[in-house]
Amino acid sequence: MAGLSGKRVLLVIGGGIAAYKTLDLIRRLRERGAGVRAVLTRAAEQLVTPLSVASLTGAKVHQDLFSLTDEAEMGHIELSRAADLVVIAPATADLLAKVAHGLANDLASTILLATDKKALAAPAMNLRMWLHPATQRNIARLREDGMLFVGPDEGEMACGEFGPGRMSEPLAIVAAIETALANETALPLPAGIGARSTGILAGKTVVVTSGPTHEPIDPVRYIANRSSGKQGHAIARAAAEAGARVTLVSGPVSVPDPAGVSVVRVETARDMQRAVEAALPADIFVAAAAVADWRVEAEARGKIKKGADRPPTLPLVENPDILAAVSKMRAGRPRLVVGFAAETEQVVDHAKAKLARKGCDLIVANDVSPASGVMGGARNTVHLVGASGVESWPELDKDEVARRLVARMAGLLQGHVRS
Ligand code: CTP
Repeated sequence: MAGLSGKRVLLVIGGGIAAYKTLDLIRRLRERGAGVRAVLTRAAEQLVTPLSVASLTGAKVHQDLFSLTDEAEMGHIELSRAADLVVIAPATADLLAKVAHGLANDLASTILLATDKKALAAPAMNLRMWLHPATQRNIARLREDGMLFVGPDEGEMACGEFGPGRMSEPLAIVAAIETALANETALPLPAGIGARSTGILAGKTVVVTSGPTHEPIDPVRYIANRSSGKQGHAIARAAAEAGARVTLVSGPVSVPDPAGVSVVRVETARDMQRAVEAALPADIFVAAAAVADWRVEAEARGKIKKGADRPPTLPLVENPDILAAVSKMRAGRPRLVVGFAAETEQVVDHAKAKLARKGCDLIVANDVSPASGVMGGARNTVHLVGASGVESWPELDKDEVARRLVARMAGLLQGHVRS
């Protein structure tokens, strides 16, 4: 179960008879804790109904490239990036040929061309189609391009012939997905590409942390908090839009990856610290993550069982303070280090104390008491606490907070304004 928990799979269902097995694949993935979003090609709609796919994934099924509602909710570019892995099952000869040639004339092929994550294909087709030199050429080319494959298996085909071309069984595909996800799935852009050459942060590098961290108790339980990652992701997006090269180190969240940002996904505070260290040096570091302050001293190897007597006690130890560590770096400290303060009372006073204690340049303080609706919500009321005083902003959309913060950070870097 733990293997796929919190992982996000974008499933492209092609129009092969084997599509019925994909329904079982969805069920198996969900049982293991993965989130699945599905895209159906036109041909797949003839073989499985969008309704059955939606019921099994528990999410809207995407079918159209030019759907106004879909684009307004989650554009196809975002859809192609909001996953840890793209899986094509069944991968038909036609779909593979399209990807091999870079065609993008429907939602499925467009997503496969636009994605920034690896794709794993489970081919399914008649054996002559599979053995055809054109298909074999396409497969070889796709492998070179980094596509992963599982199957096809040999066996009796729907058309009565016998040979290679059957889609792998759902559990074999699950195993291949687990293996793929145990490795890096991001497809980074070549150095220097992706950042704008204009904008107030052009030429600057920014590292942002976002979301919660999950601290395991045992293989099935963890300590977490209510952070959604919306504010941190919005800052990463705004910084990229302002021309910066941005690395976003994100805890487990369900918001999509911001476009034009290199995303590193982590689970625990210690993973987050390692990922931040690897992403530095940078001009600016923004710690927007709600890092869990504590973790259990020793994660249990097996599931902790309800005993006959008392509930278990879980001794906690403190997690590393990433913001304080970066603020206090002797060599290579980012020129600007910005922290957040999540408070439920005396917001500004606690933020002032945090600024001094952590040694950062600026604290964005916000009230996260349940009545504020900030945790998980779309809006935020923040106070900027710096060496030169406190500035309170009105209630704003988190995207607007992000844009204003980016403008402020650019000003601070250029020395126009003081923190
Ligand atoms: N932070 C961090 N690493 C931690 C804890 C917090 O980098 N282990 C960062 C957060 O990303 C945020 C800032 O420190 O930018 C303040 O986080 P917050 O949870 O408000 O403060 P704490 O340090 O946890 O202090 P307290 O528990 O006293 O509120």
